Amino acid sequence: VCIRQATVDDLLAMQTCNLMCLPENYQMKYYFYHILSWPQLLYVAEDYNKKIVGYVLAKMEEDSSECHGHITSLAVLRTHRKLGLATKLMNAAQRAMEEVFGAEYVSLHVRKSNRAAFHLYTETLGYKIHDVEAKYYADGEDAFDMRKQLKKKF
Ligand code: ACO
Repeated sequence: VCIRQATVDDLLAMQTCNLMCLPENYQMKYYFYHILSWPQLLYVAEDYNKKIVGYVLAKMEEDSSECHGHITSLAVLRTHRKLGLATKLMNAAQRAMEEVFGAEYVSLHVRKSNRAAFHLYTETLGYKIHDVEAKYYADGEDAFDMRKQLKKKF
């Protein structure tokens, strides 16, 4: 399995992976918005048969004083989990946020009940809970608003 930057040709496969893995789904135009605005922030995991088995979809937030990145969506197909792919996808997006866009930190939302993702963010990647957003999700579940500081090299 290889991790590489996504192209426009990957967007349908990314959307399919999202539909198979998460209840938060997006119209194709939202994927286009991401890749046209921040092409360096979309990565896919591709297996040896050229099948897309995971993705990260990320963006920069322009509407606040501090420049920061945001992880819109991350998923890995069930058949390919616990291989370190999500960790690699996240590290690739975080690195580009810092190096290409000069992000100070990266934020994301995760369901309180999502133990796998919470472990990945807190234990593996070093995110901290910044806030709790009550009833953030359509079904009424709360979200952890999480952040990770990115270290500046210059
Ligand atoms: N329970 C506990 N820990 C877990 C689990 C689990 N089910 N799955 C992975 N982990 C741990 C791993 O052991 C590893 O820990 P370590 O670094 O201490 O060894 C760490 O999490 C990272 O594991 P990866 O192999 O990199 O993660 P993986 O490729 O399996 O993907 C993911 C994790 C993305 C959460 C996957 O389970 C998934 O796609 N789930 C469904 C979709 C989802 O929840 N996406 C995130 C939503 S939040 C958002 O999109 C911003």
